[in-house]
Amino acid sequence: MSEFSSQEKSGLYKAIYTRRDVRSHFNSKPIPNDVLARILNAAHHAPSVGFSQPWNFVLIRNHSTKQKVKESFEQEKTRSSNQIDEPKKEKYLSLKLEGILESDVNVCITYDPTRFGPFVIGRSSIPETGIYSVCCAVQNLWLAARSEEIGVGWVSILSNDALKQVLGLPDHIVPVAYLCLGHVEEFAQKPDLETANWLPRLDLKDVIYFEKWGQTQSPSWDQIHELIQTNLDYAFIK
Ligand SMILES: Cc1cc2nc3c(=O)[nH]c(=O)nc-3n(C[C@H](O)[C@H](O)[C@H](O)COP(=O)(O)O)c2cc1C
Repeated sequence: MSEFSSQEKSGLYKAIYTRRDVRSHFNSKPIPNDVLARILNAAHHAPSVGFSQPWNFVLIRNHSTKQKVKESFEQEKTRSSNQIDEPKKEKYLSLKLEGILESDVNVCITYDPTRFGPFVIGRSSIPETGIYSVCCAVQNLWLAARSEEIGVGWVSILSNDALKQVLGLPDHIVPVAYLCLGHVEEFAQKPDLETANWLPRLDLKDVIYFEKWGQTQSPSWDQIHELIQTNLDYAFIK
């Protein structure tokens, strides 16, 4: 395989930096089947522990199924709000945190621990690597969707028990991600939670340590230390 041209590199970084979690900007235009198929195929080409490919994709367009999932969301949102004190609680309750009904297609991505098992290369010491693999598929899907101008929103304010029941998942199948996919009016420039002043984006320099936990400087890492002083992201988009 050849190396990436600079245009191809820019395309990849553009997808990464302009990807958004979409909740409020879905429109009713359906996703063409060829586009949906490409997005799902990108997800299916994610890395997976021991090449176990432990995912399934449950595609949902049925309104009453979406409605039941939305009910679970409402219940869980209310329940989780009781963990927050005012004034944050009121702010939390005012945030738009899903687009279940407005988006054209909902996709539940699941984990099957029995796929190609019981022995899977690389999973014997850290069983969670199975779930991590499914998360890799989610990210592939999210980026491919962005490049196809399709918005994706991850809804985790849900009861897995409710999801299992509504979607008829077998006992051993774990729902990992419930995603809302659809055409959008716009992709916001920043995360909605940043715009709402819920949380800021951390500086890159504050999340990097050199050689040992907590070590923020080291002579052999001088140059990169300088480069990470500012976040680099928007440089690639223009
Ligand atoms: C595992 C996971 C669960 C999430 N659950 C929700 C959710 O329930 N509702 C929501 O509005 N956003 C959810 N998000 C989206 C995040 O809030 C979002 O990624 C973050 O605020 C950064 O924004 P961005 O994705 O636009 O960069 C979730 C994201 C991840 C990775």
